[in-house]
Amino acid sequence: MKINGTPYRTIWPTADNQAVEIIDQTKLPHIFATLRLDTMRDAERAIKDMQVRGAPLIGVTGAYGVALAMRANASDASLAEACSVLLAARPTAVNLRWGVERMRAFLAPLPESERAAAAWQEAAHIADEDVEINASIGKYGCEIIRSIHQHKNSTMNILTHCNAGWLATVDWGTALAPVYTAFDAGIPLHVWVDETRPRNQGASLTAWELGQHGVPHTVIADNTGGHLMQHGMVDMAIVGCDRVTARGDVCNKIGTYLKALAAFDNGVPFYVALPSPTIDWTLQDGVKEIPIEERAAEEVTHISGLCEDGQVRTVQVTPKSSRAANYGFDVTPARLVTALITEKGVVRQPDREKLRALFKG
Ligand code: MRU
Repeated sequence: MKINGTPYRTIWPTADNQAVEIIDQTKLPHIFATLRLDTMRDAERAIKDMQVRGAPLIGVTGAYGVALAMRANASDASLAEACSVLLAARPTAVNLRWGVERMRAFLAPLPESERAAAAWQEAAHIADEDVEINASIGKYGCEIIRSIHQHKNSTMNILTHCNAGWLATVDWGTALAPVYTAFDAGIPLHVWVDETRPRNQGASLTAWELGQHGVPHTVIADNTGGHLMQHGMVDMAIVGCDRVTARGDVCNKIGTYLKALAAFDNGVPFYVALPSPTIDWTLQDGVKEIPIEERAAEEVTHISGLCEDGQVRTVQVTPKSSRAANYGFDVTPARLVTALITEKGVVRQPDREKLRALFKG
């Protein structure tokens, strides 16, 4: 996608091919800055501190993290250490495990002397695959938007939560790929953007990238979606996800479940867009089995923003003595999901059999 007219991905090899560069997402929307990752520990830190975030991008950064480790030391011990450090960086998005384990399985049989070059190429393949997958999700999702638009025949109002746009992936996005594809195809649309406290991925990232692409959008406080749905102001909701179980339960940014409940109660179709690496075939019951990340209380008690003097500052919004809890994700049961939009097609009223049939043939 483009930033001020220049095409970017969210992660790319440096010109000397010795490191990778990322967009530092902690600085957006007020400052656009890139950051060089030279070592596996740099990649670990970028994932932990959410300079990169979003399940697919975390997976690709993990893969490059392994490749950076191989540059420094391609021994079995170094491979094992890199995998274990990177896997521990964030717990919920399964794409990290997918990316790191794919690198381990690919590299382990190779002689040490070949690992560094091969790892670099494999990480680049994973990044390219992510772009192709998301483009395909965009095409399938666009047909859904088109068919709802044909019945409605006026501007489509689409609600999304968190950021599942191109910043959460290598390019295109998952939930926003259909939006960009439909917008580029001339379907009139407008996006309701949940702010997505506490990290504000909606207000900071989704709003910014939609604006860069010229897509009309409005940022709303997190609790607004139900009211809009009751008043016929939402035609469909599309969200991304961080892990989907084999039976179709969806783990996504905290607050997604409440939007799915409101959509269900109001007859608003609720779609989830996902690349296949987000499916965890080892799990069934998402509520019981998916590990939910708990982050620092300061992300709830404090908030950052642009001050009138042009400086970005952080202020406290809660009483100093109040405790805060910060659960990063929640789980929406498959029964509340109208359809999963994947790179291989659309799974309506998802369940284990339909998902297996599509992906495992
Ligand atoms: O905590 P984050 O920002 O890494 O959360 C991930 C997300 O961006 C969302 O949960 C998103 O909707 C799924 S990732 C495409």
